[in-house]
Amino acid sequence: MKINGKTKVLGLIGCPIEHTMSPFIHNLLANKMNINIIYLPFHVEKGNLKPAMLGAKALNLLGTNITVPYKVEALELVDFLDDRAKLIEAINTVKYFNNKIYGYNTDADGFLLSCIKAGITFQNKKICILGAGGASKAISLICAEKKAKKLIIANRTIDKANLLKNTIQKNFNIEVDAIGYNELKSFSNIDICIQTTSIGMHPNYNDSIINENDFFKNLEWAIDLIYNPKETKFLKLAKEKGINTLNGFGMLFFQAVKAFEIWNDVIIPESIIEECYQLFSDYIY
Ligand code: ATR
Repeated sequence: MKINGKTKVLGLIGCPIEHTMSPFIHNLLANKMNINIIYLPFHVEKGNLKPAMLGAKALNLLGTNITVPYKVEALELVDFLDDRAKLIEAINTVKYFNNKIYGYNTDADGFLLSCIKAGITFQNKKICILGAGGASKAISLICAEKKAKKLIIANRTIDKANLLKNTIQKNFNIEVDAIGYNELKSFSNIDICIQTTSIGMHPNYNDSIINENDFFKNLEWAIDLIYNPKETKFLKLAKEKGINTLNGFGMLFFQAVKAFEIWNDVIIPESIIEECYQLFSDYIY
């Protein structure tokens, strides 16, 4: 893609951002879709989110992704919020249009699309979610929306699990338990367990919230939102018990696909999605 006077600029606002994969995905999608945009990393120091977003709007950027630690703070800076961002109370995608700022959350849809690709469904399932932070909130709300039978939110800090339980039950009529990790043993017949914390992420390959593979014996699916390493210890233990596993690669890819579609007002054809999914997988693994 040649940069010229008509090139639209996109980027990622976060701190730190040096290890982001987003420029690769978006510039690849732009190339395959033949759209004249460029996606860049923008390191924004704490305290500078507002001038950064107002500056992006003033510079007529097409959009930005918003990542750690600004996904919640950005809520206050947008003029409009889509339903997902309202529900999750966090933004990962912003579009600047007609001197207004539009906020979206594509994380939950990214997770859903990666699960659909793997053949995972949530309806009537008993789902255990490890962690009660921002990622857990997006995932647990989407599992509730997709009519899971029951959610078990396990977290080191039980107060945070309880807060999330209240948020879920404010929005959905669903049974939710909020527990500490030591109580997990007393739960049986879990269908899906979703690991949403950073435990086990590169370079801490030997860390896992669950350390005995007996926990996995009756599960249908073990899902880890981490994509680096490709297989966390959590997923390795599940695999040893013959359980289906899914890592966070698909969620990372599909949240980007959704953001790209919002910014450019396009639907990416299935063939291009497949091709880019493979090229991105080759790039990071
Ligand atoms: P994210 O947006 O990635 O979810 P977050 O909102 O900071 O990040 O949430 C981090 C999650 O990882 C929380 O569930 C946190 O547990 P606490 O609520 O008890 O802090 C969990 N977490 C982080 N470090 C942890 C550790 N060393 N042991 C157990 N859980 C940890």
